[in-house]
Amino acid sequence: MKADFSTFLIFCIGAATFVGQGINTFFPSIDLTTEELIRSYGYPVEIHDIATEDGYILSMLRIPSGKNSNRTNSKPILLMHGLTGQAENFVLNVMNNASLAFHLADNDYDVWLGNSRGNTYGRRHKYLTIDSGKFWNFSFHEIGYYDIPAKIDHILGITGHDQLEYVGHSQGGIVFFIMSSLRPQYQQKIKLASLLGPGGYENHFTNPWLLPFTLVPDELYALSQNIKVYEFPPREIFMVLPMICQNKMFRDICVMTNYLLFGNSGEFNEEMMPYVAKQVSSVSVKQLLHFAQIIASGHFRPWDYGLEENKVIYGRDAPSDYNISSISVPTAMYYSLGDNLADYKDVENMCGALQNCVRKFLMPNKKWNHVDFLFSKTAKKELYDPLIEFSEQYDS
Ligand SMILES: *[C@@H]1O[C@H](CO)[C@@H](O)[C@H](O)[C@H]1NC(C)=O
Ligand SMILES: *[C@@H]1O[C@H](CO)[C@@H](O)[C@H](O)[C@H]1NC(C)=O
Ligand SMILES: *[C@@H]1O[C@H](CO)[C@@H](O)[C@H](O)[C@H]1NC(C)=O
Ligand SMILES: *[C@@H]1O[C@H](CO)[C@@H](O)[C@H](O)[C@H]1NC(C)=O
Repeated sequence: MKADFSTFLIFCIGAATFVGQGINTFFPSIDLTTEELIRSYGYPVEIHDIATEDGYILSMLRIPSGKNSNRTNSKPILLMHGLTGQAENFVLNVMNNASLAFHLADNDYDVWLGNSRGNTYGRRHKYLTIDSGKFWNFSFHEIGYYDIPAKIDHILGITGHDQLEYVGHSQGGIVFFIMSSLRPQYQQKIKLASLLGPGGYENHFTNPWLLPFTLVPDELYALSQNIKVYEFPPREIFMVLPMICQNKMFRDICVMTNYLLFGNSGEFNEEMMPYVAKQVSSVSVKQLLHFAQIIASGHFRPWDYGLEENKVIYGRDAPSDYNISSISVPTAMYYSLGDNLADYKDVENMCGALQNCVRKFLMPNKKWNHVDFLFSKTAKKELYDPLIEFSEQYDS
């Protein structure tokens, strides 16, 4: 009788432990949406749907204040993800106690997480359907020209501020350069731009896995249009990828692939692998191949349609380069020797071309890679603390 009772008790403790693991708040359920994820950590979240001039409907996520607070913070800041990224990029590192979004919210920033057309939060249009070639007829050029200005207008409209701060990772830097050079009236709306491993100049691009795309971008584009493949990689891959990477056996393969693509800096928390896989988004084929065109031509410029069409569209044989030296926004560059997607020499050249590059911050870990800006175990101490400290100088 007594033995039965202790067995029962042990069973109960065991069951409670098991259930407890299931609701571990440190690694929350993988099925949560980004809003649910933010709420599960005690932060307030709002969703703002905005429309661009050319009809795309994009959701922005706002974390208006710090943990369990009702007050709206004073300093608006827009965070823009990179190629194949989305808003959750800046939240997920809470699993290392190092989420840039939460860290900013706790430091009196009113945090706005942007999403670009085509990603998980940008798949609606006023009159185009998601499977039409016309919907996907865009690159980061349009993201910079239409999406970012629409976000800035919305944020300044809602908050009543004249200026905001901007953080861009990778392509988040490219779109900042495009907007600032083509729509200079937006420059004065940005108090400070902090760019993490930004793209732009691609003269020293070394990532061996992406180089094949740069050999024949125009042929690949023509082929993709012929076979009506507009989105890459196919959406379905991202549906099954998190499930695969969640499986203990396959997780190692996912982690290895991650290291093959970006390098192993020793900064990655492998437990995060399925979550990282889950927040990868697809992009347009044109966007990917535009990147390839820039690498191949050595020119940071709009899409090259080929000689004949260029004459019609741009009135010249080739599109003009984006004018980086026309940008006077105070810009801080955070970059790394170990980044095989944003080479440090390209970032330094970019910094040299800008009128007002106010900071060059080389990551102390020489192996720090392109995704460490988002997911490194030490990101708070190594990057986010110095970034926030520097940006506070712009308030005084
Ligand atoms: C936020 O405001 C609501 C209503 O004004 C109030 O009921 C709630 O307790 C507040 N929450 C916190 C954390 O202050
Ligand atoms: C994060 O913080 C929590 C609570 O302070 C702690 O239990 C946990 O070990 C920390 N995790 C990491 C990866 O630092
Ligand atoms: C894509 O847009 C460009 C320029 O706006 C246009 O010239 C081209 O015909 C469009 N292509 C498709 C497939 O809609
Ligand atoms: C680029 O911008 C600078 C500064 O506004 C200007 O002096 C220069 O002429 C521009 N270059 C081109 C090629 O338009």
